[in-house]
Amino acid sequence: MIPPQVIDKIFDVAPIEEVVGEYVTLKRAGANYKGLCPFHDDKSPSMSVSPSKGIFKCFSCGQGGNIFQFIMEHEGLSYPLAIKHLADRYNIPIEEEDIDVDELQEEARIKEGVYVCLEFAKKHFYERLNDSQDGKVVYKPYLTERGINQQTIDKFQIGLSGTEKSHLLNEGLKNGYTVQQLFDAGLVKKINEDQGIIESNLRDTFIERIVFPIYNVSGKVLGFGGRIIKKDTKAPKYLNSPETIVYEKRKQLYGLSISKNQIRKSDQVFLVEGYMDVVSLNQSGVENVVAASGTAFTEEQARLLKRFTHNITMLFDGDVAGVNASLKHISTLLEAGLNVRVALFPEGEDPDSFIQKRGTAEFQSYVSEKAQNFIELISEIKLGENKHDPINKAEAARAIAENIASIPDPLKRAAFINETATSLEIPERILIDEVNKFKLDNRKQKERETRREARQEERNIADGPPPGFDYVPDFTEFKSPEALNVDKVNYQELELLRNLILYADREFDEEQNVAQFIFKELEEDEIWPMDDEYSLIFKEALEYLTEDNVLNELYFIRNPKTSKIAADALSVKYSLSKGWEENFEKIVKTDEDNYKRQVVENLNYVKLKHIDILMTENQEGLKTAETEEDISIYQNVHTNLQEIRKKITDQIGTVILR
Ligand code: GTP
Ligand code: MN
Repeated sequence: MIPPQVIDKIFDVAPIEEVVGEYVTLKRAGANYKGLCPFHDDKSPSMSVSPSKGIFKCFSCGQGGNIFQFIMEHEGLSYPLAIKHLADRYNIPIEEEDIDVDELQEEARIKEGVYVCLEFAKKHFYERLNDSQDGKVVYKPYLTERGINQQTIDKFQIGLSGTEKSHLLNEGLKNGYTVQQLFDAGLVKKINEDQGIIESNLRDTFIERIVFPIYNVSGKVLGFGGRIIKKDTKAPKYLNSPETIVYEKRKQLYGLSISKNQIRKSDQVFLVEGYMDVVSLNQSGVENVVAASGTAFTEEQARLLKRFTHNITMLFDGDVAGVNASLKHISTLLEAGLNVRVALFPEGEDPDSFIQKRGTAEFQSYVSEKAQNFIELISEIKLGENKHDPINKAEAARAIAENIASIPDPLKRAAFINETATSLEIPERILIDEVNKFKLDNRKQKERETRREARQEERNIADGPPPGFDYVPDFTEFKSPEALNVDKVNYQELELLRNLILYADREFDEEQNVAQFIFKELEEDEIWPMDDEYSLIFKEALEYLTEDNVLNELYFIRNPKTSKIAADALSVKYSLSKGWEENFEKIVKTDEDNYKRQVVENLNYVKLKHIDILMTENQEGLKTAETEEDISIYQNVHTNLQEIRKKITDQIGTVILR
């Protein structure tokens, strides 16, 4: 168990806007912040962050909670590990034995093992580059020769792998990591695919390579990229970690954890092709740079970047491969709603070699001079020297139209169509038709994919369960809303809990506050929430209150069992959109006037729900009653319950249909 003092300390030193701000650019909106929600494909900022309450809430996908929920969701961590993550981040000491490993779920435990293993490897490789003979005599000089200084090595924690087949394997085992962990981390691989994960069948992934640790956006090591420096070899120049349970390549960008603040500040990012480009530009003071490191640029990567800026400039080699790569990236970036420019470097040069040769100032001016939008780029490539060749022109127009079709914003589309019409001297009308054709194609393509997925789904269902499994049909989908109401969420109890969260420490009358009133009522009527989850929450809150603590919204925000519900309950007010300032006053006011009535009403609904269940049970009993006496008892109970029910419904003042 992690001591509550540690958790409170973290709450005190880790402002939610800072924790969330590590992952998403937040803009002030009144007393709160707004940003793009990282938990769904958010088109416009729908996530609100409240510094005063310490909660975040997405009004589009519903995610919400305190700082720990944010980290849990974002990093895929369990609660204790999310605590550890933030404790580490804010230098709050936490004892390893406080984290009860058994508390963690299987997957989280494996992940944690993999993370510590990768961290160990990073440190080991870094020390090898700096302290070992190989490092000092061969590899560090190579880096120095390429203009990379010690400060940069430290900043990126560049390291050196082993030079033998099982160097890291042995080191890892010696330091208490298991073969399974080293394997899961992608640090060792099987020699013979058909054999198991045993020491004799494993060897290092990285041998004789300079290694660049690859970090996620918050700075955790996920894997490595390794460069060989030998020339006389058939081995690939670069070798990357495989995909693992922590490293999903399509979701990561090399350099982002280091560059994100600078990207935010300059509201601009450079996308380059290689590790060395990122490292070298950083050293020269150009810090807003990331690389997709060799893989195709994905939608997920575009979305990740978009959280920090909308303005992206690709810096690619001017050779055929570089041009093709940049063309391929463009539509992905445009589709994500990003503003894209491309600066191509002279053939044979990349950003690293250019800045090393010519310096930062010349680099900056080259980039700002050469950066083109995609229309200029495609025109240049397709038209070449023959600016008026009709066939080239048609080809260029088509390629441009295809890219314009993927831009989600209709105003931007219109502006680009206009620009293309002017520069290619093609009537706008024709371009619009062409763009629309591509849009239709895209839509059809999407529909086809959706249909294919749906069919696949149907087939999976029709296939039934795999042999050996008993088929248990799941009818939940077909239940009426009322039936769901009964089985799943007890809305009455949830509403009462929301009232408790919102108004616990407000005055109910001269003698008691709302919380005291609610608990007194529940006790007097001998009813208690029936839902297991809510029941426990009420129980703990009551205990907390009886120990003379102040029970208020802060308690519910910080309590992991209630923080999601609290974020939801407390965020309703900010969800007002148009004319919210005007309405805000009104709503808060009526809310103030109404809270006592709301509490009483909700208590009554909870009671009603109880009575209804008792009545149903009683009726079941009546059906099976055998003696006269039993029957009369059931009938009496029924009459009593009916009376109580009537009293409550009268008080609510509404007719409740059964
Ligand atoms: P240097 O040659 O050291 O300057 O590195 P670079 O980053 O300039 O490399 P290059 O431009 O050749 O390649 C760009 C990126 O593509 C690299 O950073 C790697 O991520 C990737 N890449 C290059 N060569 C290979 C390879 O042989 N295998 C794999 N998997 N990726 C490679
Ligand atoms: Mn290079």
